[in-house]
Amino acid sequence: MSEDSNSAILDPISNVTEGCRLPVLMSNGEDWPLAEVISIKDLENKRLFYVHYIDYNKRLDEWVEEDRLDLRKIQYPRRDLASSTTGLNTPKKTLTGATNSRPSSPGLTTPDPITGPSVLAALQQKQQKIKKRKLDPNEEDDGRRASIGSLGGSIGSSIGSLGEIEIAPLTPLTPLTPLTPQQNVPRQTGSLATHSDDHAITRIKNMKMIELGKYRIKPWYFSPYPQEITSLDCIYICEFCLKYRKSRKCLERHLHKCPFKHPPGNEIYRKGSVSFFELDGRKNKLYAQNLCLLAKLFLDHKTLYYDTDPFLFYVMTECDMRGYHIVGYFSKEKESSEDYNVACILTLPPYQRKGYGKLLIEFSYELSKFEGKTGSPEKPLSDLGLLSYRSYWKQTILEILIALKPQEGQEKPQLTINEICEQTSIKKEDVISTLTNLELINYYRGQYILTLNKELVESHRKVMEKRKVRIDSKYLHWTPKDWAKRGKW
Ligand code: ACO
Ligand code: ZN
Repeated sequence: MSEDSNSAILDPISNVTEGCRLPVLMSNGEDWPLAEVISIKDLENKRLFYVHYIDYNKRLDEWVEEDRLDLRKIQYPRRDLASSTTGLNTPKKTLTGATNSRPSSPGLTTPDPITGPSVLAALQQKQQKIKKRKLDPNEEDDGRRASIGSLGGSIGSSIGSLGEIEIAPLTPLTPLTPLTPQQNVPRQTGSLATHSDDHAITRIKNMKMIELGKYRIKPWYFSPYPQEITSLDCIYICEFCLKYRKSRKCLERHLHKCPFKHPPGNEIYRKGSVSFFELDGRKNKLYAQNLCLLAKLFLDHKTLYYDTDPFLFYVMTECDMRGYHIVGYFSKEKESSEDYNVACILTLPPYQRKGYGKLLIEFSYELSKFEGKTGSPEKPLSDLGLLSYRSYWKQTILEILIALKPQEGQEKPQLTINEICEQTSIKKEDVISTLTNLELINYYRGQYILTLNKELVESHRKVMEKRKVRIDSKYLHWTPKDWAKRGKW
């Protein structure tokens, strides 16, 4: 037995340190999976432990009290291994974000497994750019700055009011106030101070609650909102322009002044109550940044990045008499060397598991069809992202296969993989992986054949019955732009 274990017997709870692993009772009140202690704090004479359940997604990480820890089975971090755990002792990584010339995703970029350094790196990089920009006499500061992205100190990148806004509703939005174009996009500025414990900070959920429209939503992950608001019990976000306020009163004051009833940009699709707005991360920078801050609350494997210029954002809304309410969005690089047609995708939690995710995915492939390209989502995918994409690919490919009829003179219908790609805009690798996962491909008498059994066809029919809302290309009013030919995004 080690010295640590002996002292644990004398005073078990004070020996629980960051990096320890032990069984912890989950909030379902039943399971005791192994968890790692990420952080410890004392609050009102109580000691609280921030734990990560080892085999579970980080959204389940939480603060627990002593009575939920099974101290009998505690494992202390081995000093030599300390740096390889998933906890606070994680080694300092090189600041990968700092070396990237631009993000691989929309204001949210794929990080190393720990988001902290990358967030900081991204911010530092931004600061460097800002410093450079400060030297540019052509850039004006309109004095209206709001600090975002504070990471436990004076880290902040500042953003101002909504930038240039394009409006092109498909038909007049009678009950709603039109957007007013604003030309003045203030430059970004702010100061950056490194935080000594950045890993811990970005690993721990920093927001208790957000209020967005009629919903109160519990965040899943860290997002670098300014520290002064993260201590509040709830922050209040305008569902139309996504600016955040520290109290409901402040939000109400904002709502009186806020001219928006829908996202900025162009409404490029509307069918029934569902609309899609396309906005440019350069022209609508403040909105795009606020969208990324909001999205980061639910996206773990992306690091927030403030340079939204290289991205387009497609915001899906549900319309009623009060306005166009944001349901979800995806972002897309203006130019992707890897054929990504989605960088980040999100359905806001109140709308999840209702088919909106698939609608967003379907829309992204519809855009690719208009572009005459195949596309794929940016990797890595989250657990829920993978589930949703797999399900979309399966349904889309089965839809084609089932509808296929033999041509004249053929005994059986014939189709190449390339034809599936052309019809769906799904990238070849994803088509092949879907067919393989479905175990549909068989080799028979010298050729590959796809065999669809009755059960599969029947289960497909049932799931498609439930997928009532679909994207209808007739309602898409959009011409792709060739960003490579434009000198500037
Ligand atoms: N548990 C089990 N299955 C789930 C869950 C869940 N919590 N959530 C979605 N699914 C499955 C659904 O069952 C459905 O499959 P099915 O039709 O075969 O049953 C499929 O995923 C899609 O369901 P939708 O209702 O269409 O999707 P939803 O609106 O819930 O959105 C999304 C899916 C966007 C991934 C959502 O979960 C989300 O925003 N998650 C947080 C952010 C995220 O992880 N985004 C993806 C990151 S990857 C990237 O950005 C490229
Ligand atoms: Zn607003």
